[in-house]
Amino acid sequence: MTKTTFILSACFALGATSTLSACSRTETALIDEGEAAAAQETTPPTDTQVQRIQPTPPLQNPRAQTAAQLKTPAQLQQQARPVSQQVSPVPRPERTPFTMRRCMNMGNALEAPNEGDWGYTIRAQDFRAVATAGFDTVRIPIRWDAHTAHRAPYKIDPAFMARVKQVTNDAQAAGLGVIINVHHYEDLMVQTNRHEARYLAIWGQISEEFADAPDNVYFELLNEPTLDMSPARLNALYAKTVPLIRKTNPARKLIMGGNSWNSVEALAGVRFPDDPNIVATFHDYGPHNFTHQGAAWMNPVPPMGRKWGDREDEAELDMTYTAAKAFAKRTGLPILVGEFGVIDTVPQKQRNQWTKRRRMAMEANGYAWCAWDFSGAFKSYDTQAERWLPGAVYALTAR
Ligand code: BGC
Repeated sequence: MTKTTFILSACFALGATSTLSACSRTETALIDEGEAAAAQETTPPTDTQVQRIQPTPPLQNPRAQTAAQLKTPAQLQQQARPVSQQVSPVPRPERTPFTMRRCMNMGNALEAPNEGDWGYTIRAQDFRAVATAGFDTVRIPIRWDAHTAHRAPYKIDPAFMARVKQVTNDAQAAGLGVIINVHHYEDLMVQTNRHEARYLAIWGQISEEFADAPDNVYFELLNEPTLDMSPARLNALYAKTVPLIRKTNPARKLIMGGNSWNSVEALAGVRFPDDPNIVATFHDYGPHNFTHQGAAWMNPVPPMGRKWGDREDEAELDMTYTAAKAFAKRTGLPILVGEFGVIDTVPQKQRNQWTKRRRMAMEANGYAWCAWDFSGAFKSYDTQAERWLPGAVYALTAR
């Protein structure tokens, strides 16, 4: 089956830098609207809500109990206030370290309409190959939309959920962390309001299913928001999704990016929640007319033969990572470059050169990354020959 995707808008189809900033410009006007909407949603808890909070249950460990009985200056100050003014001691999860560094996207499998439609079905042995090559995590793009009922309560097909669980378990058995995302939810991008309840129901079910998963199972809220998913709409959606996931997964890392297909520029428009376990993400395919040359799903298809590595290309790279650095400095959020790669019709040497240079820029800034991809159109591995493409692992891991 042919890969159908609507990533055909003019923003993406032209060269990276100019078009991405053009996309960002159109979306900037909407950011204020999003902030106003989000501000309305963050109302302080009412007295009734405060009263409903249960007292902390007694601790099991006697040593911990003794420590807990000692009052900190903040607690003493709180105690001194009249009851009506006391702020409820809502337990706030600790920030846990974001330990993933090197990740591989298992693309073209579970985000196809049906796994296998795009020529790749994930095998447990693939995870072993990924782990042995020195990666610590895999990202599993997933098209939940194709396997979810269209009527409330929007049940996900149990067989599909079981398959996702199986793939996650196989990756974990190979010692890998796992990013679970919502990929290619195309109707949500064009009819956001109509699909909001369904999208939230999908996250409700994923959250319950993976509530007990280890910390290195990460949730990524939405791959590459675009089209009608304006920054304002995206922020409003995030503002509903995060508290929903937090009901069952209080401290899991949540990965969130901006519009324009997760461009670096769009990060500035994201209203990140006040939550200690958030990771910001962006995708790096710059310049598109190099990384996507000949990509049949682009319109127009960028011509083949574009080489990479001159001074202009270096300047483009510099612009991307200067933008990322400014964002990281302002927010202090950990960063994951969730997709980067070059289509496999480009000579492997050029692909390796681009990949190594981008990867080094990410690592120099302390960002985690996830290469696109294992066995799809941007492949690093040959599943027929059961071997990595020449130089692919070295470009990514220096091993
Ligand atoms: C899309 C893939 C595409 C890749 C590179 C991903 O986000 O899901 O279908 O091949 O980007 O364009």
